[in-house]
Amino acid sequence: MKHLIIKTIEKYARYKIEQNLNLEYREHTLYPVAEKDKKYLLYLHIPFCKVFCPYCSFHKYSFEEEKAREYFGILRKEIRLAKEKGFEFSSVYIGGGTPTILPEELAETIDLCRELFDIKELSCEADPDISDELIELLKDRVDRLSVGIQSLDDKRLAQTKRCEKFGTAQEQMDNIKKLIENFKIVNCDLIFNFPDQTKEDVLEDIRKLKELSPQQISMYPLMYSPSVKKDIEKNMGEIANTKEYELYKVIMDELSQGYVQNTCWAFSKEGITLIDEYVVDHDEYLGLGSGAFGFINETLYINTFALDEYKKTVDSGQFSTARYKKYTKKEILNYRLMVEMFGFSFSMDKLVKKYGKSAKRTLMLKTFLFRIFKIADKDQNLTVFGKYIFLIFMKEFYIGMDLVRETSRKGIDRFGFVKKM
Ligand SMILES: C[S@@+](CC[C@H](N)C(=O)[O-])C[C@H]1O[C@@H](n2cnc3c(N)ncnc32)[C@H](O)[C@@H]1O
Ligand code: SF4
Repeated sequence: MKHLIIKTIEKYARYKIEQNLNLEYREHTLYPVAEKDKKYLLYLHIPFCKVFCPYCSFHKYSFEEEKAREYFGILRKEIRLAKEKGFEFSSVYIGGGTPTILPEELAETIDLCRELFDIKELSCEADPDISDELIELLKDRVDRLSVGIQSLDDKRLAQTKRCEKFGTAQEQMDNIKKLIENFKIVNCDLIFNFPDQTKEDVLEDIRKLKELSPQQISMYPLMYSPSVKKDIEKNMGEIANTKEYELYKVIMDELSQGYVQNTCWAFSKEGITLIDEYVVDHDEYLGLGSGAFGFINETLYINTFALDEYKKTVDSGQFSTARYKKYTKKEILNYRLMVEMFGFSFSMDKLVKKYGKSAKRTLMLKTFLFRIFKIADKDQNLTVFGKYIFLIFMKEFYIGMDLVRETSRKGIDRFGFVKKM
C-alpha cells in the first residue's frame, strides 16, 4: 500500500511541478524590482567545473581560467547594478558549479558584497579540492562552507570520477578535517540511493563522516533527471527507485544519534542555526550570474545561460534575466506549503496572515489529507513517512528545475556561446 502511495505521489509531484515550471521567454518590461526597506537573499552562481561528474545537471561549463576570471568581473558588475537598483541583502548564498575554482576572484566578490550590503551570513559551496591557501583566504570571509563529498567509498568515488579529481576517501577526509578546524560551520553533502548502494554502504558513508563531526550533513537522494540518467547508468549501473525509502529510514535512524533533523534532508548538530536551503528560508531572493534563479514579486526568474549574452546584458546596465513565470497567489501558497512542510517550519497562522482568509480553506483540506494518509499529525509534525513524502516533493522540484535548465541551454554551444545560425 505504502509503495503505491509513494509511486502515485511521485507521479503527481512530477506532473504538477512540470506544469508550474513552464517558463516564458523574456519581455523587456519584466525585471525584478526591489521593495523599499526589504532585505533579500542574494544567490550568486559560478558555472565552472574542471571535470564534470556524471550525475550532475547543474549549470556549468568546462573551466578555462581567462573565461572564468572575466565572468567574475561581470558578476561583480551585476552585483553593483543590484545595489543601484535599490536591492539590499542580509544573506548571500554562492553556488555552482564550483565557486572556489578561482579563490582570489571569489574573495574579491565576497568583499564587494560585504562592502555594499550589511551581510549577516554568507554560505558558499565548494568541492573537496581544498588547499591551505584557499582556507586562509576564505575562513574569515565565509560563515558556512558546504562541501560536496557524495560518498566516502572509493569504489563510488571512482564511478563518479571524483577519485581522480579529489583523491581517495581518506585523502578527502583529511581535507574535510582541516576545514572543520578552520571554518565556523561546515556542511557535508552525501548522496544516497546510487545504483547498487546497500544499506550497509550508506551507513558506512555516514559513520565515516560522523567521525569527523561536521556541524551539518545534507543527505540528497540521487536525482536522475532525463539529462543525466543515461550518464549515471553508463558509469554506475541501472537506477532503481525501490530502495530509496528503506535507505532514508536507515539514514534518519543513524543521524538521530548526534544530529538534529532540520529539513527532510538536512541534519545539524544541536544549537547550530544556519543558512541551509535558501529556497526554504527565504520567500524572496535575487539570483545573479549566468543560469541563476530568482524569486521576487510572485515571479520566478532565470538568467541567461549564454556567457556572451550574459556579458552583453550586464555591460548594457541590465539584469541578465532571460525567462520568467508569474504565479497566482494560490500557486504560491501551494509552493510555500511544500517548502515549509519540507523545512519543518509550517505555520497555518503565518500563511493565512500572508495570503488571506481564503488560504485557510486550501490549507485545512491539505492538512486534513496529510492526517488521513499519515503524512503528518494534527499539529502538522511530519511522520517518518511524511518526511519521505516531502523529500520526494523537493526532489521532484529539483528535477523540474533541471528540465528548465535543459530547455534554457537550447541554442548555446558547449563553450557557453549563442550558436550562430
Ligand atoms: C551543484 S553541487 C556543487 C558542489 C561542488 N561542485 C562539488 O561537486 O562538490 C552541490 C551539491 O548538489 C548535489 N547534487 C548534484 N547533482 C545531484 C544529483 N543528481 N542528485 C543528488 N544530488 C546532487 C551534490 O550533493 C553536490 O554536492
Ligand atoms: S557535482 Fe560539483 S564538481 Fe561535479 S559537475 Fe556538479 S557542480 Fe561540478
